[in-house]
Amino acid sequence: MTTDSQHRLRVGDEYEVAIQDLTHDGRGTGRPLSQDDLGKTLLVSRCAPGDHLRVRVGKISRNKIFAEPLQVITAGPDRIEPPCIHWTEGCGGCSWQQLSYTAQLHAKAEIVKSSLKDLKGFGDLNIDPIVPADPTWFYRNKMEFTFNALGGLGLHLPGNWRSVIPITDCRLESNLAMRIVTTVRAFTENHQISTWNPDSGGGLLHELMIRHGQAGKETMVAFITSSGSFPEANALASKITQLDESIVAVLHGARASNQRGSQVSSTKLLAGRKAIIEQVGGLRFNIGLETFFQTNSMQAERMLEIVAREVRIKRTSSPISNLVLDVFCGIGFFALGLAEYAETVIGIDIIEASTIAARENAELNRVKNALFYTGDARHALPPILEQHGRPDIVVLDPPRSGAGGKVMRRLARAAPQRIVYVSCNPVTLASDLRELEPLGYKLTRVQPIDLFPQTHHVETIATADRLEETPAMLATGPIDIT
Ligand SMILES: C[S@@+](CC[C@H](N)C(=O)[O-])C[C@H]1O[C@@H](n2cnc3c(N)ncnc32)[C@H](O)[C@@H]1O
Repeated sequence: MTTDSQHRLRVGDEYEVAIQDLTHDGRGTGRPLSQDDLGKTLLVSRCAPGDHLRVRVGKISRNKIFAEPLQVITAGPDRIEPPCIHWTEGCGGCSWQQLSYTAQLHAKAEIVKSSLKDLKGFGDLNIDPIVPADPTWFYRNKMEFTFNALGGLGLHLPGNWRSVIPITDCRLESNLAMRIVTTVRAFTENHQISTWNPDSGGGLLHELMIRHGQAGKETMVAFITSSGSFPEANALASKITQLDESIVAVLHGARASNQRGSQVSSTKLLAGRKAIIEQVGGLRFNIGLETFFQTNSMQAERMLEIVAREVRIKRTSSPISNLVLDVFCGIGFFALGLAEYAETVIGIDIIEASTIAARENAELNRVKNALFYTGDARHALPPILEQHGRPDIVVLDPPRSGAGGKVMRRLARAAPQRIVYVSCNPVTLASDLRELEPLGYKLTRVQPIDLFPQTHHVETIATADRLEETPAMLATGPIDIT
């Protein structure tokens, strides 16, 4: 038996391990079978609890060892045969497809529970059973495929933009999406259009984005490139529109910098119109190239129903609130869905294209009591609260990085009866909720919901209620929100 002090860990070392739990980043914790302790947490990707695996160490950090499975020695009880034909190539799209869906749901509920368990007062709170997704494949309404000088067009390996798998089949979006990918790949190869080179940063084509409304049945195709000229764009667009009559928008988005991942700075319409319409919860949404929209429309509808339930059954007075605030509102998904339960609903988002689209969506749905402000929530909240007064309910749906302490404290000091937090990251959810505890709020309900089957991602709707309605807090007039 070797211990860490006797054995120097190296990248490339191989171990036989037993997989225990799944962590919030989707990896499993492994216990080496042949030794007591490696001195660090061993994290194994693409595994299932109860598996006995042969793994190879790929990376070592200060506290962690990251390993890839080489061979399944004995399968755990929840391991199933992954259905995707690109699984063995290491495609980064669906890293939990080796787990039965029941096991995925169980693991996601555990991830939410363990992330929140240290919150004060959490001990007496039960987490509601996770809402499963249906369907569990072909559920995405948006995918981005990567161009790469070395690998053509497809999906890249997890965390590795250099290695692109030129996929021919994918069970995440739609069969039409795969036909578009195949057509674009053939066109760009035939016309020898340059693709992004990870070493030089040169090359024109970065990504192909396909948005396909699940209920709206409209499709958008966008080529994201560096700032160079793209003379073949119109010919490619006309080839694409011939594929299916649902393709109503073809766009070219160019980045000012050659950095992959940077903002698109100019957009050109190549065919059709600049946005598609998707329908969720009886509402219609215009979705453009740059604006955020929930990527699983069917589950987004269930999520909206849950948030609406939390808004309707607030603790006091009528089911109609005076003021509902939707912070991080995007194109108005929650704000417009909740407008019928409020005298006024206000949305705030940092991206102007989103708030413009939110106003257009309000008009499209004949919603007359919604206002949208552009601004960074960290700075925009004080003047908005000053002008509109105390909100009854705040709904917030921040990006994965969370809302942050400043926003949470400002919201709590505005003293809404209830804060409904929609989170796609249980870790930042926990740290944001912790900010509310000393400011008089208690977590009263936690509802996990699965929007991303076959992946470790989990969405959570957490409700926090204000414990005491002190006269000072209820006073009308300016609110101390500094
Ligand atoms: C997870 S999306 C939610 C959007 C919307 N609630 C929905 O369901 O479609 C997060 C949104 O936060 C916005 N955002 C990011 N940082 C922000 C900030 N500091 N202040 C305001 N909005 C921000 C993004 O533009 C994005 O629209």
